[in-house]
Amino acid sequence: MYKSMKVSPSILTADYLNLLPVIQKMEAAGTDFLHLDVMDGQFVPNISFGVPVIKSIYEHTNLPLDIHLMIDRPSRYIEQFAKYAHILNIHYEAEPNVVDTLKKIRVLGCRPAVTIKPNTKPEAVYPLLKLVDMVLVMSVEPGFGGQAFMPSALTKLQKLHKESERQGLSLELEVDGGINFETAKLCADAGATVLVAGSFLFNSHDMPSAIKELQQL
Ligand code: DX5
Ligand code: ZN
Repeated sequence: MYKSMKVSPSILTADYLNLLPVIQKMEAAGTDFLHLDVMDGQFVPNISFGVPVIKSIYEHTNLPLDIHLMIDRPSRYIEQFAKYAHILNIHYEAEPNVVDTLKKIRVLGCRPAVTIKPNTKPEAVYPLLKLVDMVLVMSVEPGFGGQAFMPSALTKLQKLHKESERQGLSLELEVDGGINFETAKLCADAGATVLVAGSFLFNSHDMPSAIKELQQL
């Protein structure tokens, strides 16, 4: 089976008292990462979950955790999340000291990633590319699952792909928000290497097959 795209399912829209069987199903399906959306009600107008929930998930799965911090000034909390993260994403817009924070994430043993909101130009993170292993392009306004994909993310992926090659880097390019088979194909063509998928997987009749189909894009 040809598999090139990586998939990082988001559990944001899951039934939180029924997480374990869902995560086990994702793991059995061969998903690449597990995407965990942390929201503080400040940086985004929603509150999700934090360290205690992530600690429990970490203790019950072997999946590498792809933690997406949608919190204001994440530098205050990275030590806590780094204990459980494989990839630790911070928002460019949320952190005044983004360079030092990304460096510190690497020192803490995680893969640093920088995330940009729909209104942030990709050029803003060009000076940061050598510090990160991944850039996460938001294709919806962060805060909620189930929103429609914003096509402006495609140009950003193309630009980031080109710039990362120009700098001689091989970065992962992740896209998050409104991913389904159609938008995933567009993102793959634009240079994405990791797809976050939330409501699309939870609404699909056969989640394991949907994960595998996304991986084959
Ligand atoms: C939104 C989150 C996403 C969300 C994606 O702020 O960052 O990870 O779960 O959900 P869907 O796939 O439904 O757009
Ligand atoms: Zn996310």
